[in-house]
Amino acid sequence: MAELFGRDLLSLADLNPTELQELLQLATQLKSQKLQLRCNKVLGLLFSKASTRTRVSFTVAMYQLGGQVIDLNPNVTQVSRGEPVQDTARVLDRYLDILAIRTFAQQELETFAQYAKIPVINALTDLEHPCQILADLLTVQEYFGTLAGLTLTYVGDGNNVANSLLLGCALAGMNVRIATPRGYEPDPTIVEKTRAIAGDKTEVLITHDPELATKGASALYTDVWASMGQEAEADDRFPIFQPYQISEQLLSLAAPDAIVLHCLPAHRGEEITEEVIEGLHSRVWDQAENRLHAQKALLVSILGAD
Ligand code: CP
Ligand code: NVA
Repeated sequence: MAELFGRDLLSLADLNPTELQELLQLATQLKSQKLQLRCNKVLGLLFSKASTRTRVSFTVAMYQLGGQVIDLNPNVTQVSRGEPVQDTARVLDRYLDILAIRTFAQQELETFAQYAKIPVINALTDLEHPCQILADLLTVQEYFGTLAGLTLTYVGDGNNVANSLLLGCALAGMNVRIATPRGYEPDPTIVEKTRAIAGDKTEVLITHDPELATKGASALYTDVWASMGQEAEADDRFPIFQPYQISEQLLSLAAPDAIVLHCLPAHRGEEITEEVIEGLHSRVWDQAENRLHAQKALLVSILGAD
């Protein structure tokens, strides 16, 4: 089992390449049911943004491990009435075994982790979405049988998903290309970290040219053009992002056996066409299912099996 016992996962950069590989291996074993583990612990979900997949997959993962989940919707806790993060963190620490947080600022997540001694998992911030990328890499590995040496191209907004994909692909020994409009590039600190992980072993390309980025890629990935919290910008963004839509035409430039990924929820006709998301290359439903297996592996690695 990966050496993650008692640790936080605030960024994908908290993992090294071996830990990532071991997590994916454990997820594969759990998915195949060749391995069944128990972990009778209590997970808290403190989500300040909407969620379908992350909320439900964490909950089901914990139930299948024999554990319990408490949904700490900020509206029904004192969080929405302004109780300081430092106080909430120290109190939840006394009740729970592990806490998954979905919020806006990465700094808030880091403050939680600083004040709570229990492990804290990033269930999405404006900066990163590491749990999503564990499932994405599992999906690519299942399809191609390997990750090292493959090329993943992300086309769209340089958002939380793009940032974590950069780190995840570099850790997995994959080439990673990100194509965004000017002004919407991924976080520069994350790009720098990615280049440090990749060294001269794999490619890290940040470009404004979606066609260049897509040529020969094995996995073509996109996400919404306006993330949660950016809804007011959506109308202004659409014309800027139009050339970054994943369409049949863009997909035709990828490798013939390329797979198409989307973290969901998707906006058909915006970042991806109906034909592509429903087409033969799409693996988005396997990808969504893999949230469950990847997070089960993560939970049991951090908490330890009974
Ligand atoms: N992909 C993802 O995180 O989905 P939810 O927002 O539904 O959790
Ligand atoms: N980038 C999106 C991902 C949703 C799962 C958002 O943050 O809203």
